[in-house]
Amino acid sequence: TPDVSTTVAGIRLSTCIYNASGPRSGSAEALHKIAQSSAGAVLSKSATLLAQDGNPLPRTWQHNDASLNSEGLPNKGIDYYISDETISEILQDSSSSKPYMVSLSGKTTADNITMLRRMVGNTKIAAIELNLACPNIIGKPVVGYDVEQMKDILDQVTQILNLPPMGIKLPPYLDSVQFQQVATLINQYNWIQFVVSINTLGNATAVSIEAGMPFISSNDGFAGLSGPAVKYTALANVRKLRQLLRPTIDVVGVGGIATGRDVLEFLLCGAAAVQVGTQHWSEGPKCFDRLVQELSDCMTELGHESVRSIVGTLQPWN
Ligand code: DOR
Repeated sequence: TPDVSTTVAGIRLSTCIYNASGPRSGSAEALHKIAQSSAGAVLSKSATLLAQDGNPLPRTWQHNDASLNSEGLPNKGIDYYISDETISEILQDSSSSKPYMVSLSGKTTADNITMLRRMVGNTKIAAIELNLACPNIIGKPVVGYDVEQMKDILDQVTQILNLPPMGIKLPPYLDSVQFQQVATLINQYNWIQFVVSINTLGNATAVSIEAGMPFISSNDGFAGLSGPAVKYTALANVRKLRQLLRPTIDVVGVGGIATGRDVLEFLLCGAAAVQVGTQHWSEGPKCFDRLVQELSDCMTELGHESVRSIVGTLQPWN
C-alpha cells in the first residue's frame, strides 16, 4: 500500500490529511473524534484571548458545492485549548499520540502576542497556526491583505523565543502582485515553518429569493465562502506560494477538498499536507477515513508510491 504519511515543519503526520480549523473543532469532545479517525493531526478552532459566543444566528449556510459562514470566532478562549486537561482529553486512547495543533486568531496583535506567550515551552502543542485571515470580524481588516499590519505582527512574534513550531494561515490571493508581496515578506522570517492556504473567500452573499434577504443575518449577510466552489482558487494559491516561498517552508493546502482525487491535485500543486473544512462539517470525522482510503486507492491506480514523492511535481506545458 502507498505511503500516505508526510511531514509538516518536521513533524511527522501518519496521514497527510487533517482537519481545517473551524468546523467541529471547538471542544475537546469534537477534537477527540478527529484524533480517533485517520486524520494525521488534530487542529483546534481559532482561539481568542477570552471565550466568546460569536455572531448572531443564522450565521452559516450550505448548498451543494458552496458554504458560507459568518461565525465570528465562537470559541472557548486560549486557556481552554492549551490546558493539559483539554489536551489529554483530546488525545486519550489514541494509539500513537497524534500531533495536536492550536490555531490562534486574536482580535488585536496585542492579544495574539499575549496568547503566544502563554504557549512558550509547551511541548504538548505540536505546532501553532496563526490565523491572519479571518474575514468575519465586523469592522476589522483581514491582516493577510494588509502587508504593513502583517509585517508588524510578524516582527512582534519574532521577539518571542521557544515557541512550538509556527505556521500562518493566509487568505486567498487573486493578484500576482499580492502573491509576490506576501511571499517576499514571509520569506524574511526564519520562524515561519509552514503556511496554510486558503482561509475562506471573504464577503460572499447567498440570497433567498423567497425571503428577499440574505440567508445569513450576521454582518449584513456578508460571509466567508468555502467548499468545492473555492477549490480552484485554493489550488492556485498553493501552487503560487510553493513557487515563491523558500523551500524550507511547507505549504498546507485547504479549500474545497471532498474526494481523494482532490487531495492528489493539492499534492501536485505543492501541498505537503491538506486540511478539510467544509466536507468535515457536513460529513463528520469519518470523512478522514474515507479520504485517506480514496487517496491511497487513487495513488495505487496512478502508480504513486508515496505522498512525499508527489508534492510539487505538477509539470508545465512546454
Ligand atoms: O471563515 C472563517 N470563519 N474563517 C475564520 O478564520 C474564522 C471563522 C469564523 O469564526 O468566523
